[in-house]
Parts: sequence; C-alpha cells; structure tokens
Amino acid sequence: MYALIRKALFSLDAEQAHDLTINTLKTLGRSPLNPLLKTLFACPAGTSKTVMGLHFKNPIGLAAGADKNGDAIDGFAAMGFGFIEVGTVTPLAQDGNPKPRQFRLPEVEGIINRNGFNNYGIDYLIENVKQAKYDGILGINIGKNTFTPVENGKADYLVCLDKAYRYADYITINISSPNSPGLRQLQYGEALDDLLQGLKARQQELTEQYKKYVPIAVKIAPDLTEAELVQIADTLQRHKMDAVIATNTTISRETVSGLKNAEQQGGLSGKPLQQKSTEIITRLYQELKDQVPIIGSGGIDSVASGQEKINAGAELLQLYSGLIYHGPHLIKQLVKQIK
Ligand SMILES: Cc1cc2nc3c(=O)[nH]c(=O)nc-3n(C[C@H](O)[C@H](O)[C@H](O)COP(=O)(O)O)c2cc1C
Repeated sequence: MYALIRKALFSLDAEQAHDLTINTLKTLGRSPLNPLLKTLFACPAGTSKTVMGLHFKNPIGLAAGADKNGDAIDGFAAMGFGFIEVGTVTPLAQDGNPKPRQFRLPEVEGIINRNGFNNYGIDYLIENVKQAKYDGILGINIGKNTFTPVENGKADYLVCLDKAYRYADYITINISSPNSPGLRQLQYGEALDDLLQGLKARQQELTEQYKKYVPIAVKIAPDLTEAELVQIADTLQRHKMDAVIATNTTISRETVSGLKNAEQQGGLSGKPLQQKSTEIITRLYQELKDQVPIIGSGGIDSVASGQEKINAGAELLQLYSGLIYHGPHLIKQLVKQIK
C-alpha cells in the first residue's frame, strides 16, 4: 500500500509532498478518525526503556524536521513512535531559504535539504503542543533565528528553553544544522562551553520554578574530526548533559558523487549517511561510556541498520528519511525487532 502512496508523493516536488503529508496527518490526527488511523498502522507497543530518567514505551522516535511546528503530533503518534521530536523551532517565525530547498536522491534513498529553519516560531508550536492528545514522550528541538548573529545565539536558545520547558519531556539543542550560517561554530571550544553552561544554569532555575527536571540533549553533526569529537565528548560530560543526538545531516558528498542532485547545497540524510553516523556513535560511545546516553540518527532504513546503531552504543533511535522511502511499516518492524 505504501508503494502506491510513495509513487503519488514522489510525483510531487519533495517539499510539496512533505506539506501534503503533514496536512493530512494533522487533519486525520485531530479528527475522530484518529483511532482508525492507529488500527490501520497497527504498530505494537514494543519494549519499554528508561533513558534520561524518562520512560519510553519503545526506543523508536521521529527525528526533528519532519514536524517543525508540531502540527501533526497526533498523526505521527498513531504510527506507533515511542517518542516524537518536534522543531527545530526558533524564537520568532522565519521563512527559511528560497525554494526549491529539498531534493531526493532516489537511487541511494537519500535527501538533501537546505530548508534553513523555516518555522512559525515557538509560540505557535507551544499552542500545538498544548492541543495535542499524545501522551508519550515529546522532545522540543530548539535553534536560533538566522538573523541573530551567532555570538548572540545563546540568548535565542534561552528564550526557547524558557518557553518550551513546561511543555517538553526533553529539549534538544540543535547546533548542527548546516543550513543556518555559522550555527555549527557553536559545537566547538569556548562557544560550546559558554552555551552549555548557560543552558544548564537556566535548566536548574527552571527545575526549581516548575518542580520538574527536563533533560537537555545536544544534537551534533557527523562532519567532525577526531580531535573535535573528543573535545565535544569531554564538554558534554563536564556539563553533565542529559543526552547527545548523533547525528544531524552531513555536508559530505563522498557517498553520492555523480548522482543527480548530489551537488545541491545543504545537508544530506538517509542511506548515504548511515555508515558515517554509525561511526560517530561508535567513537562517541568509546569516549562517553555510559555517562551521556546516545540517541542514534542517520540513515536508519531497516532493522539491521537500526540494530547496528544500538550495537554501536545508541540507547534510542530516531528516523526521518527512512520513513519517506519505506513508510510507516518501517516503524512497526523496528519497534517489533530492535533488541
Ligand atoms: C527535510 C529535512 C529537514 C530536517 N530538519 C531538521 C531540523 O529542523 N532540525 C534538526 O535537528 N534536524 C533536522 N533534520 C535532520 C533529521 O532530524 C535527522 O537527524 C537526519 O535527517 C538523519 O536522519 P535520517 O537519515 O533518518 O533522515 C532534517 C532532515 C531532513 C531530511
């Protein structure tokens, strides 16, 4: 059945197909047909797991970027995900980069996007979160507005942290998108130290204010040198970060050279990213041991590729591109078979 839906969706431009899917899931997810949707997807509950002090009904999550504004939380929930991450959201609404800005590489099941944090802003997202009926684990992924200079980026993250805190089960700091100029500089040295210190201090204040501890995860890029990876791992441990998401999309084109759309600017996801992100997880786990849990993301397209990331040290998994190429059946298989 998904083969037919995919054929229809793939006849559209990639972002149009995405918008149509989100609108459909938004409408069905919020309608009295929601239970029917759940029956249709028929995903088992899976094996539960506690990570970051949170109880996940299963370890398979929706990665950020699919539902940037939290419009379709109940629709995605019906597919059986153990957790859903909405965003990246910024303090103020912004359009993102000019279209077209999403491209498929169907021969290798890849996607290149240079969306640039198009979203309606944190207030809009929070209203959607309040209205959602979903009662599983919800992550809110936050970023900075493009017009905010990177040296003032911390202020944007703090605005979003303040506003998201009451409504999120965990919050992800996205400092690894290649589509927001300069953003990735926040992954290194003093800039990272300063950002994490500020966020941890505010987390403590908010914990007292709301009598609720909301874990903070940091999402990193796969394009790191060995020295950079070691330094990031050390910084995450020193600041007692609650989790790390590895990885975001890659700027490398090594695995796709010569293919149509390979030269489009942006971040590459899907199968061409699979091995690279697993390598990062393997190295991170050697550095972090069990001090900071790893959430694995990048090219999960089968039970085998998901299991590889778990075996490399990931506690939880997230997917996006695999869902586009394989449909909701992939979630069901992963939930059933990942050990
Ligand atoms: C179209 C698109 C938009 C994305 N937007 C975001 C985003 O806003 N924030 C973020 O942290 N990651 C974003 N990502 C990255 C995904 O969350 C994920 O980490 C990455 O695509 C690797 O997983 P995958 O191979 O399963 O897609 C985006 C990915 C795609 C394909």
